[in-house]
Amino acid sequence: MDFLQHYSVGVCYYPEHWPESIWEEDLRRMLDSGIHTVRVAEFSWSLMEREEGIYDFTFWDRFLELCAKVGMQVIFGTPTATPPAWLTETYPETLNADETGALYYHGGRRHYNYNIPVYRYRASRLITELAKRYGRHPAIVGWQIDNELNCEINDFLSASDTEAFRSFLVDKYGTLEALNSAWGTVFWSQTYTEWEQIFVPRHNTIHSHNPSLLLDYVRFVSESALSFCAMQAQILRQFTAGQFITTNGMFGRMDNHRMTKESLDCYMYDSYPDFAYGIDNDWTKDDLHDRRSSLNLLQVHSICPHFGIMEQQSGANGWYNRMEAPMPRPGQLELWAMQSVAHGADYISFFRWRTSPVGTEIYWHGILDYDGRDNRRLREVKAFSKSLEKIAAVCGADTDARFGVLQDYNNLFDADIDHWHRRVHQASEQGIFRAALKHHVTYDIVDVREDTPEDVLGRYPVLFLPDFIILTPHLVSQLSDYVKQGGKLIVGCRTGYKDETGKCPMHPMPGLLAPLTGTTVEEYTFASPAEPEAKADWDGKTIPAALFMESLKAEEGTEVLARYTDSFLKGEALLTRHAVGEGEVYHLGTTFSEAVVSALMTYLGLAEPYSTVLSVPATVEVVGRVKGGKKWLFVLNYEPTQTKVLVHAPLRELLTGKEMEGETVIPAYGVWVLEI
Ligand code: GLA
Repeated sequence: MDFLQHYSVGVCYYPEHWPESIWEEDLRRMLDSGIHTVRVAEFSWSLMEREEGIYDFTFWDRFLELCAKVGMQVIFGTPTATPPAWLTETYPETLNADETGALYYHGGRRHYNYNIPVYRYRASRLITELAKRYGRHPAIVGWQIDNELNCEINDFLSASDTEAFRSFLVDKYGTLEALNSAWGTVFWSQTYTEWEQIFVPRHNTIHSHNPSLLLDYVRFVSESALSFCAMQAQILRQFTAGQFITTNGMFGRMDNHRMTKESLDCYMYDSYPDFAYGIDNDWTKDDLHDRRSSLNLLQVHSICPHFGIMEQQSGANGWYNRMEAPMPRPGQLELWAMQSVAHGADYISFFRWRTSPVGTEIYWHGILDYDGRDNRRLREVKAFSKSLEKIAAVCGADTDARFGVLQDYNNLFDADIDHWHRRVHQASEQGIFRAALKHHVTYDIVDVREDTPEDVLGRYPVLFLPDFIILTPHLVSQLSDYVKQGGKLIVGCRTGYKDETGKCPMHPMPGLLAPLTGTTVEEYTFASPAEPEAKADWDGKTIPAALFMESLKAEEGTEVLARYTDSFLKGEALLTRHAVGEGEVYHLGTTFSEAVVSALMTYLGLAEPYSTVLSVPATVEVVGRVKGGKKWLFVLNYEPTQTKVLVHAPLRELLTGKEMEGETVIPAYGVWVLEI
């Protein structure tokens, strides 16, 4: 897509929040600061359609004309995240509902449901009008669909959702017998005899819903969001020319990968690293702080390798009623923006130009404060846009990934509803991320699905399979091909405990994967908080069995690498290796804690891949990028103090233009981009 062919800077702008008399000056100041694109309009439905079917676009006509005049590019938002009061008053059935079925009313945002036909109709009428009017407007380069689908709330419990859920189930299962069998409704006499007996998980039940129903419900929520997005994309494609389509995220209960493939030209993410250590979150317990945001960026990179940041934090975060966080310190704004660039963002749009003087987000600061004066943050934005010019050559580079971490939506959705799964999922996700970050290893999250081509998996010499509780025969054959052709697959605990319906298959674990791992699980349990963490010996090194413990029975030909040294599993196998074809399968009977992953990375020769050129402490993030035989390292110091770095051979640093060599320091919140 042309727009992401080179680095550029944008900002979110709300002309409706300020007098028209200051628009032109605002736009010119932006251009002077290196900002060439504004995202607008995504919450302005009531400005465009004050009464049902009476459209008035004169406000946006004037604004867009001004943009065309001064040379500002525009990403125009479809305003469906905030239906106006007249709409929800006239059609209360368009509202979302809480668990008891009570409707949410006007006053916040995202209070609609995706499935009610009248909302889709009103939205599609408005988008058609917009697309016809602006689909060839010279100022508009792209469209943002809605705003943060599934943000604020990702439970949809209105009557129209129940109806749509039933149709989804009829399409999926055909008959009630098939549904009853898939959901195991024989348990607790939950058998359904009419489709009308099935609801979204709205009604209060005693403590729980059937987990298989919940799993299908989450899939249904995802389908609903995707089809709402697809509906908008189809209209935009019909009436626009030469303008791209995107949306901003990233939120759960949505197959973001499929949505991007089916409906968008590219995906954009909203990056607020301060969430990591706002006052709301007890950040003292987390030594990663804002580095934690890089995990989200890895996920975004997996959705869309060259993505945009639609909202990049530029000020202190906070609604008047939640999320209090401090103002970025000198350097942090640019550091966080470069964190996004390091992970693959080619467009960075700051949120927002000026802080809103009205409404819920009066403390969600933009670049400028309420007074709009030039300030330090604006100077940093300007400096950042200059920095991007210096690293122009890096745009479009791939990550220098040394391994991949597999994920699929069956398991992401199951971890959403199954607490046992979630606990293990989070532990492994964090453990892999933390170990890789501290050992400066760049890796990719790899979404795997039926149509994933073989060569996508084959790109990675090592693949982690962290918590694939749900296994499908197709996935197992993909993994088997990967290993036979020389891949190293590292399988985590609790693999294969469920099938796609969420039922537990009646065979030894890791189920369908057992022939590949060359093991079966003998005993399994959550680690007891009342007992000391179990340990195992791996060639003289001690590794923990954190959170979950499995004892593995090694079949003939499978080598035991580590055995429990204590606990009731003392002497049993915790880690094994099985040679298959040209490759190897490792089976780990516990979570991928940071300690275990560090040991695995050292064993597999993955740790510190750039140690011949650079030595940096664990607190510094290093991201490798490659393009056309060239390689760059983004070196990001998240600390409030300068940090010592050892550069082993002279290297050019693109932002300062200096040659770095020997013992040197990277400044507080500093960033380097080294050419290696
Ligand atoms: C999201 C939204 C923005 C704004 C910020 C701050 O990222 O897309 O409109 O509300 O959060 O809350």
